Amino acid sequence: MNILLLGSGGREHALAWKISQSPLCDKLFIAPGNGGTAQFGTNVAISVNDFESLEDFASAHDVALIVCGPEDPLVNGLYDFFAESSVPVIGPSKAAAQLEGSKEFSKKFMHRQGIPTAAYRAFTAAQYDEGIAFIAEQKPPIVLKADGLAAGKGVVICETHLQAEEVLTDMLLNGSFGEASHTVVVEQFLSGIELSVFVLTDGRDYKIIGHAKDYKRIGEGDTGPNTGGMGCVSPVPFADAAFMQKVEELIIKPTIAGLAKEQLEYKGFIFFGLINVAGEPYVIEYNCRMGDPETEVVIPRLQNDIVDLFVKLHNNELAATTISFDTQAAATVMAVSKGYPGSYTKGIAMQLPAELPADTMLFHAGTSVQADGELITNGGRVIAATAKAATIQEAAAKATAVIDQVQYEGKYYRRDIGYEFM
Ligand code: AMP
Ligand code: GLY
Repeated sequence: MNILLLGSGGREHALAWKISQSPLCDKLFIAPGNGGTAQFGTNVAISVNDFESLEDFASAHDVALIVCGPEDPLVNGLYDFFAESSVPVIGPSKAAAQLEGSKEFSKKFMHRQGIPTAAYRAFTAAQYDEGIAFIAEQKPPIVLKADGLAAGKGVVICETHLQAEEVLTDMLLNGSFGEASHTVVVEQFLSGIELSVFVLTDGRDYKIIGHAKDYKRIGEGDTGPNTGGMGCVSPVPFADAAFMQKVEELIIKPTIAGLAKEQLEYKGFIFFGLINVAGEPYVIEYNCRMGDPETEVVIPRLQNDIVDLFVKLHNNELAATTISFDTQAAATVMAVSKGYPGSYTKGIAMQLPAELPADTMLFHAGTSVQADGELITNGGRVIAATAKAATIQEAAAKATAVIDQVQYEGKYYRRDIGYEFM
């Protein structure tokens, strides 16, 4: 079958790599793709949110499956749009994508299904005074979240009451996140280690396809501002059988049962953003897609044919499927542009190593190939090196050695990915 993959990050390069290995995949198209994805298919210059153009392309090229990398097309109703032309999409329906698209929706859903998450209240501008009063009753740190999609920037952890009041004012009265902060969730701060768990579901059954720990801060030792993710490791030592059993019983099963009960149609990935609080898992957030850079470690460890999994999912045959994982550990290290996550320059010439050692891969993120064939930077997160090895420590060292060899002016990366597991 011909497959259309949407997106342009390291996640999509890793998915393109995996999809193209399937004997079930004839032609792979990536819209819009990046400087790396064309290794595994054909890049198509269509924006992920231009559904009409995607539909024209899909019908002209006999596309039988659409795999969506990023969240916004899913929140905008990609699944429902293509249901009308009978092209299956890997993802949730628009209604179910609200699990990521609205923090308030997801908190209410978890509350209805009895899923452990931080205590919270939601406020609109009309309830501003109540919000201020609620903040005064909380013990800092206090977590404020813009309700809607805010490109990963809508969460502010406030160390003082004053800061929380200012952020609430900015979000509700000054519209600092536009429509996304029309409603603000104020929630209890949870202290623990985070874990990302990935599931494929057909809305009734599910399979865990991997888990990872993401390093979100720009600086070594987890310092400085948040980024989209500077590196990842998988598997995570504390996510042992006993902890994962709790995750399944307390979180995954009630989530899937909740989707069925509330008739939220879902045929795709669920990313459970969890936090381990003294051995107990809580949900920080749901995402309706794979993570980036989590995909760059989860997908290389997944041994199943991913297209076969997609087909089974759409045929409601997931339950009978066995998932197998590489026993090796994986680590990925992301190289970014100078200045990221603040402002940075694009269009800088890049040179990649001519050969890669065994069990290592380079997944392009913000790169592009110019008409003359030159590879240039094209984003904040530029390229990720993934390595597999017997231990996290060896995998991280191997990935770091590869990213060392990537050359462009202003390259920055963390040298301590996986540090707490060394
Ligand atoms: P999000 O944009 O929802 O991924 O949140 C960004 C980050 O904020 C998360 O990865 C956590 O590190 C942090 N965070 C969100 N909610 C909480 C919470 N209730 N307690 C502690 N940290 C949180
Ligand atoms: N790495 C976190 C995310 O993809 O949202």
